[in-house]
Amino acid sequence: MRVLVTGGAGYIGSHTTLALLKEGHDVLVVDDLSNSSVESLHRVAELAGREAGFVEANVRDEAALDAAFADFTPEAVIHFAGWKAVGESTQIPLVYYRENLGSTITLLEVMAQHGCRSIVFSSSATVYGELSEPPFTEDAPTGATNPYGRTKHMIEQILADVAAADDQLRVAVLRYFNPIGADESGRIGEDPKGIPNNLLPFVAQVAAGRREKLMVFGDDYPTPDGTGTRDYIHVVDLAAGHLAALGHLQDHDGYHVWNLGTGQPSSVLDIVHAFEKASGVTIPYEVAPRRPGDVASSFADPKLAQTELGWRAELSVEQACADTHRWQAANPNGFADA
Ligand code: UFG
Repeated sequence: MRVLVTGGAGYIGSHTTLALLKEGHDVLVVDDLSNSSVESLHRVAELAGREAGFVEANVRDEAALDAAFADFTPEAVIHFAGWKAVGESTQIPLVYYRENLGSTITLLEVMAQHGCRSIVFSSSATVYGELSEPPFTEDAPTGATNPYGRTKHMIEQILADVAAADDQLRVAVLRYFNPIGADESGRIGEDPKGIPNNLLPFVAQVAAGRREKLMVFGDDYPTPDGTGTRDYIHVVDLAAGHLAALGHLQDHDGYHVWNLGTGQPSSVLDIVHAFEKASGVTIPYEVAPRRPGDVASSFADPKLAQTELGWRAELSVEQACADTHRWQAANPNGFADA
């Protein structure tokens, strides 16, 4: 297939682009490089032995998108591009609404103009909020507690409305739990700008000596060791989930939602210990107050994706920690080292 990938130079996008190329698909990446590096695509090409096309543009740039569709004639789109920091979204909410909603609306309009009818969308387990208890099934109540999460929730609703209005449209909404890890080559990985918000990149930078210690946000949650638990899923498994969803859309129309998670919760301290084992490095940490907005526990019921897509997470948290460490140790400053 010819697959247009928005945000394909980013963390999950680059791993999915690699998986698509390895499976023989043709890929065109559209990315404005606002939070990613084109070096990731050079390395994807090196790993795949063939390259994805690349257009440097914001997805809200209708003229650029129109030209890309006219030139590449994609049969499907995977839409990763978006702003994704929860804390930042509470400071600059309009940027989040403009970028995340605006890009999706422009993309759907340009897809319609060019007769492209299949889209896989990067949603988030954040839409489950605290409305029910994990494990979350796809029919659990949804909402959101911050502007970032609300953009994901609103985009899901926009996609459902557009799919209801157009019986040709095929939509897969993928609700990611906590993506971690890196390609086992150590050539591509997560490269956050500034101080990492997320646990794994922070731990990896502590192990690499770039940061002094981890702050563990709260040890008084109602969880086995008191620290928050999450469903950490290897990014290579996550990438495979996109290919499975794309395959499903080839012979199923309508609007579909699938969780991409392992179903297994791990605590912050579980991750610290797994990383220490994988890296052989001790991770100094200090317990700090809870981070505002955090939930105690979030993990998937992953059965629907198993049944309908024939997809399940295969790689362990230990494997993900080893892969993250390999990437971070070989690229202490991420793609800036290139
Ligand atoms: N944590 C720490 N110290 C840190 C960073 C995180 O203790 O320096 C803890 C958090 O409190 C939480 C766990 O590690 O218990 C995971 O935190 P992350 O920031 O890595 O991930 P979140 O679960 O908060 O958020 C992630 C994505 C969001 C998404 C959400 C969906 O970053 O985009 O999952 O559940 F919305």
